[in-house]
Amino acid sequence: MTSPLKGKVALVTGASNGIGEATARALAARGAAVVLAARSEERLGFLVREISAAGGRALAVKTDVADKDSARDAVERTVRQFGALDVLVNNAGLGLSGRVAELRPDDLRYVFDVNLLGPLNCVQAALPYMRRDGRIINVSSVVGRRAIPKVGGYCATKFALNALSDALRVEVANRGITVTSVYPGTTRTAFRENSRRTKDEKRGWRPGGVTPEKVAEKISDVAERGGRDVYVTLPDRLFIAGTTLAPGLFDRVLRHWAKD
Ligand SMILES: NC(=O)c1ccc[n+]([C@@H]2O[C@H](COP(=O)([O-])OP(=O)(O)OC[C@H]3O[C@@H](n4cnc5c(N)ncnc54)[C@H](OP(=O)(O)O)[C@@H]3O)[C@@H](O)[C@H]2O)c1
Repeated sequence: MTSPLKGKVALVTGASNGIGEATARALAARGAAVVLAARSEERLGFLVREISAAGGRALAVKTDVADKDSARDAVERTVRQFGALDVLVNNAGLGLSGRVAELRPDDLRYVFDVNLLGPLNCVQAALPYMRRDGRIINVSSVVGRRAIPKVGGYCATKFALNALSDALRVEVANRGITVTSVYPGTTRTAFRENSRRTKDEKRGWRPGGVTPEKVAEKISDVAERGGRDVYVTLPDRLFIAGTTLAPGLFDRVLRHWAKD
């Protein structure tokens, strides 16, 4: 069956690694032309060659999403090269570990610049070009629905992103554009290694997590069909349902995690 993405144009931020890289591949495999945006030009170049060799269409654009001009340039080059922009995947992001009592404001500002202002810059640049059935997909996190100890600053950036997504969804609904929040749980990428750390804190216990390809398939399904809130696994969905119904209980459970 032909994917509705055939002939569509998608811009994926953070496509040089992890979830973004897997998403770019998955969208290209479903027939979309993909624009790969991130700072590591070399890695983007490898992926462009791989996608092109497989018969897809791809363009690399060196982009720092936290820089408004750079985000605008990525969008404009997308439209110049492929004539449209149908799907925007705001995936670029980074973590920040550290207890709230110890967070440094400069670290928090930087992570907000990338995780919140980054998507905002891309959305503002993209909206004038998006047509009916356009898709904006913001990659949040399960910890953007329930903050957990020792990564409160990072959680705050994703809560803020959800707020923008919820407002934007309603604002653009009458243009036929959908806005989706995707909430991955732990995913096996270099995310933790790339996270900022407040002190030299240990990375702590970590469950296995899903592959970035699994998250990418969910994002690609959203690119085809839209959606509001999308979880990657049933346990993620149940975790959020549980914390919503019994927040105090989860506070007590999470206290163990807060201990060193
Ligand atoms: N891994 C997880 O467990 C997990 C769970 C839930 C949600 N998430 C979210 O999923 C998204 C992707 O994370 P990941 O796991 O794939 O992490 P990752 O492997 O570290 O990849 C992060 C990507 O973001 C890009 N990036 C970082 N800062 C950027 C900037 N200023 N401008 C443009 N691109 C930038 C990086 O590319 P360059 O360095 O080349 O710029 C890289 O391609 C993030 O938003 C993250 O918060 C991850």
